[in-house]
Amino acid sequence: MKNKSLVSITDYSKEEYLKILSLAEEFEKEPNQDLLRNKIVACLFFEPSTRTRLSFESAVNKLGGRVIGFSDASSSSVTKGETLKDTIKMVNNYCDLIVMRHPLEGAAKYASEISKVPIVNAGDGANQHPSQTLLDLYSIRKTQGKLENLKISMIGDLKYGRTVHSLLMAMSYFKPEFFFISPVELKMPDEYKRYLDKVKVKYTENLDFANYLPESDIVYMTRVQKERFSDPIEYEKTKNAYVLRNSMLDNSKPNMRILHPLPRVNEIDVDVDDNPKAYYFDQAQNGVYVRQAIITSILGIKS
Ligand code: CP
Repeated sequence: MKNKSLVSITDYSKEEYLKILSLAEEFEKEPNQDLLRNKIVACLFFEPSTRTRLSFESAVNKLGGRVIGFSDASSSSVTKGETLKDTIKMVNNYCDLIVMRHPLEGAAKYASEISKVPIVNAGDGANQHPSQTLLDLYSIRKTQGKLENLKISMIGDLKYGRTVHSLLMAMSYFKPEFFFISPVELKMPDEYKRYLDKVKVKYTENLDFANYLPESDIVYMTRVQKERFSDPIEYEKTKNAYVLRNSMLDNSKPNMRILHPLPRVNEIDVDVDDNPKAYYFDQAQNGVYVRQAIITSILGIKS
C-alpha cells in the first residue's frame, strides 16, 4: 500500500482490506499518536462534505500531522479557470498526500496519473468512495463479528450511490447475498450486476423492502441524491420512495444493524435513532480510525 493511490476499492486486495481493518482496530484503542509529525495532508474538496473531510482532518490531527486544502472549490483558483491538472501539480509541492473529492467520475484516477504524491479518492461523482467502503467493512465486521455469509439489503438510490457500488465489490470476497431495493429509475446499474454474476454472488432485485427486513443482517440505507439528477421532476418522483421507521424493525434479527453513509434526508425516520439497531452515527465515528489506517499505510508509517 506504500505510496499507492487509493482510487477504487479494487486497488486493494482482500488481504489489504483486512490489514486496514486490523490497523483501524489499533487506532480505535489509541487514536492519539505522534505518527504524522512533519507530514502534510491536502484535503481538496470540489464537492460538499461533512464526514469525509472532517474525519480525514481529524485523523491527521490526532496523529500530529497538518492539514491544508479547501472545502469549497470556489475559494480556489479553479474559479479563475485553473485546470485540475495544474491544481494537482501545484498541490504536489505542498504536501505528502492528497485526499480529493470531485463531482466528475474518473477525476481521482486522472489526478493519480498526474500526481507525484498518492491520491485518496474521497468520492468521484457516482463512481467510487473507497475510504467509505473500508469504514463500512469495519462497521460490518465490528457489529457482526465476521464479514462472511451475510445478507445485506441495499435500499434507495442504487444507481447514483457510489458507496453501494464500492461496498458490493468489496463484500463480494466474503460470500454475501444482496437484496437490492430501489425505485425502477434508480436500479443498480447493469455493470455491477454483471460483476456479481461473474464472481457468483447472489442478488435479488425488488421494489418493496418490507419483505427483506426480517432476514437481513445489514440494512444499508442510502439517500436519493438530489445533486445527481438533471431533471428535478425525476428527483421529486423518487425522493420519498423508502422511509425506514422504527415500527418496521419489530421482526428484524437481533444482530441486524442499520448502516447509512449519511447525510440522511428523510429515508430513516428520527424515531429509529434510539433503536439499538441504528448504527449509522457509530459508523461515521469509525471513519476516523479507518482513515488513520489508510493514511499511515499509504505513507509507509504502518504496514
Ligand atoms: N459519507 C459521506 O461521504 O458523507 P459526506 O458527504 O458528509 O462526506
